[in-house]
Amino acid sequence: MSGYPVDAAIASGPGYTIVENASLEGRNTFRVKARAQLLVDIHDDAALEEVFGFRGLHTQPVLVLGEGSNLLFAGDWPGIVLSMATRGIEVVERAADADVVRVAAGENWNDFVHWSLARGYAGLENLVLIPGTVGAAPIQNIGAYGVEVGEFIGRVHVWDRRGQRRVAIARDDCAFAYRDSLFKRDAERWLVTAVELRLPKHRDPHLDYAGIREELAALGKPPTPPHVAEAVARLRTRKLPNPAVIGNAGSFFKNPLVDPATARALQAIQPQMPAWPAGGQVKLSAAWLIEQAGLKGWRDGDAGVSERHALVLVNHGSASGADLWRVARHLMVTVRQRFGVTLEVEPRVIGGGADG
Ligand code: FAD
Ligand code: EPU
Repeated sequence: MSGYPVDAAIASGPGYTIVENASLEGRNTFRVKARAQLLVDIHDDAALEEVFGFRGLHTQPVLVLGEGSNLLFAGDWPGIVLSMATRGIEVVERAADADVVRVAAGENWNDFVHWSLARGYAGLENLVLIPGTVGAAPIQNIGAYGVEVGEFIGRVHVWDRRGQRRVAIARDDCAFAYRDSLFKRDAERWLVTAVELRLPKHRDPHLDYAGIREELAALGKPPTPPHVAEAVARLRTRKLPNPAVIGNAGSFFKNPLVDPATARALQAIQPQMPAWPAGGQVKLSAAWLIEQAGLKGWRDGDAGVSERHALVLVNHGSASGADLWRVARHLMVTVRQRFGVTLEVEPRVIGGGADG
């Protein structure tokens, strides 16, 4: 690297800019310091072919970045960070019961949920206020309050880095599961350029997740999609720390899935332990396990566990990504020793001996 001033654009063309040795501090919601050898902002996805032709970029490690709300930079990225900043929402198919909408990867997810509610669509209301881009939504099949986005996805438009070509992947081939998908399992290969969602015009509300009915009753409002969204937004705002106030990436661990015998053995010792049936397995609450291990609100310098929610790691100020990763490993070891349960990390961890 060198020759070029830090953070100055070194190339641009129709629909993209490239910056060398770029800071990523403002591009991740933990707000930790990290740098990328090259940062490419894509404003028009027609520029992808040109960008991957530029100085042989197709051969370098590529990290696709949305709003950085599910990433921990425990180190720098040793290659290209490609940020999808494309915009556009278009109805591509109309039918009596549902329309198909194509959304560019760089659109903000929460803005899109409000776009759908304002036009009378139903279904995305439980997914309100999840941070991040539409392009990242299929990566971990975002979910909240009893609903997952995979249910609404028709096709995911991708740039396949292996084949150097564009393809559309139908929902049944996306391997959507709890916080998982084909794209998450092979992150170096897939670059999501747009998502097609089938938005119903009517759908029975999903009100079973704890707190939604009570919140609607407190608001004195019926369960229409906009009112359910309002109830969910109020619950989320109360429970989760706001990344604009304190750096975090939402849940740091998945809720563990264990076999029924393991769950029964744990409940024999911990009768208060929450547990939910999940397709033949049992889902435990990672937050509960961390809190019972005495680690809610625990901190080591500026890296710690939220006082509001035990599943959320927080940056109290100047923690590095490596500091936060050390806290995460401490939580994993403690929960394993105390309960024999393995916690699986939810966000993508860069560097620090993690996946890269
Ligand atoms: P990033 O963090 O930028 O990227 C996340 C991963 O997706 C990375 O591996 C990245 O390489 C990949 N990626 C991003 N864009 C693309 C693309 N276009 N093509 C290919 N790969 C891509 N998640 C939930 O599921 N449910 C929740 O309720 C929830 N609540 C949250 C609350 C808070 C306060 C925070 C901070 C996070 C929460 N999250 C939640 C996690 C996060 O919002 C989601 O994972 C979101 O989809 C991440 O979007 P992003 O654009 O920030 O992705
Ligand atoms: N709990 C505790 N201590 C806490 C917080 C929660 O013991 O500090 C226990 C309580 O028993 C509570 C239970 O955990 O009833 C569940 O808590 P909550 O409703 O807050 O949900 P969660 O399981 O912690 C999951 C998702 C969230 C999603 C919410 C709502 C995962 C890993 N996390 O959290 O997603 O918003 O449900 O559906 O599945 C994310 O993925 O980043 C995320 C925030």
